[in-house]
Amino acid sequence: MLRAQDEPKKNPMKNQSRPRRKDTIPRFPKNALSKDMREYNNLILQCIPSGVMVINMDGLVTFCNASADSILGIDCTKEKDKSYLNILKGNSHVAQLIKNGVNGETYYRKQIQVKIDGSIKWIGITTSILYDDKATPIGVIAVFSDITDVKELEADIKLKERLAAVGELSAGVAHEIRNPLSAIAGYAELLKKGLSEDEIASAVDAIIKETKNLNRIVTNFLSFVKKPQPIFEETDVNTLIKEVISMVSLAKDADRIDFDIKALKTLPAVEADPFELRMAFLNIIQNAVQAMPNGGRLTVKSGIQYGRIFIEISDTGSGIPKEIGDRVFNPFFTTKEQGTGLGLAIVHKIIEAHDGKIEFKTRHGKGTTFIIRLPIRR
Ligand SMILES: Nc1ncnc2c1ncn2[C@@H]1O[C@H](COP(=O)(O)OP(=O)(O)O)[C@@H](O)[C@H]1O
Ligand SMILES: [Mg+2]
Repeated sequence: MLRAQDEPKKNPMKNQSRPRRKDTIPRFPKNALSKDMREYNNLILQCIPSGVMVINMDGLVTFCNASADSILGIDCTKEKDKSYLNILKGNSHVAQLIKNGVNGETYYRKQIQVKIDGSIKWIGITTSILYDDKATPIGVIAVFSDITDVKELEADIKLKERLAAVGELSAGVAHEIRNPLSAIAGYAELLKKGLSEDEIASAVDAIIKETKNLNRIVTNFLSFVKKPQPIFEETDVNTLIKEVISMVSLAKDADRIDFDIKALKTLPAVEADPFELRMAFLNIIQNAVQAMPNGGRLTVKSGIQYGRIFIEISDTGSGIPKEIGDRVFNPFFTTKEQGTGLGLAIVHKIIEAHDGKIEFKTRHGKGTTFIIRLPIRR
């Protein structure tokens, strides 16, 4: 026997879907229904945590939700003068983005800093054009949120990364300096013992050599840590390449290397610091020469692609082993007996200061190509 609770429940949906008698359907006039919808939409917009503001083509704020008020520290409904300039009077940055929107320029997740009630906030803002059903633009919609917390977190992480990098750097410097220092100490100890004149001379020579070494480490280190203050000027990259190649080709270890320059004759001058760029090319070309101890070919090619210039420096040397590929730009990373590991770190910094990009392609035993891309105008 079925007990009350086991009784099969009536399907409420079924009940609802049963056609109602015509006279029980509430009849709203057409515009009343749309008013209902409007209220519903309005409720949704008022309850979302993002700020939403709509401005018509005359620059009047036609809609502003509660979150917009609280994020921007304003009170839209109270303002009699609905012009966006009046409502956003303290937020000229936001006003500018809206003005640009009226002129057809929109933004996607643009991050801006604004001062609200005396404190600085970060706001992420997206603007879009509002069209009517005939695709005529009738206003601008701005959707924004307070991203101050995210920005603070980002800054926190950056600071931690920087501190970690400083730690790594100091450890590297200490390590680099310790070797020549202990060599100097060793030779000085030797000098205390009764040595022949020749022995004294060679110990002193060794000390001088190690001090030079120390000097080189310090110079390299300083050029790495000093904040680059590039002086930008119209720079002919092809000339820089030629200068660096003729300098490197004079060096002893460059005898067995064929140098080949494939410069694009019509390469435009770029806005760059020629001294810094020369240093970058020199470091890469020196590495290329060092990667070909038994000789090979070094090719430098310049050209233009996607509105940026590129410089390709290729060698037919050892290649960069896969397992160290992501570390070659790290300061103090070296696989060379006499290396400082600062060359590519310096190059990376220089190219970054030029808003450029650097990458490399490599094949074991076949060679390596470093590619630098630079904007023509910054
Ligand atoms: N063209 C290249 N071919 C092979 N290995 C390279 C090349 N360029 C850089 N490397 C690798 O990257 C490391 C870091 O280079 P770099 O920062 O210039 O320091 P260093 O030359 O003092 O070692 C080098 O020790 C080497 O292992
Ligand atoms: Mg180097």
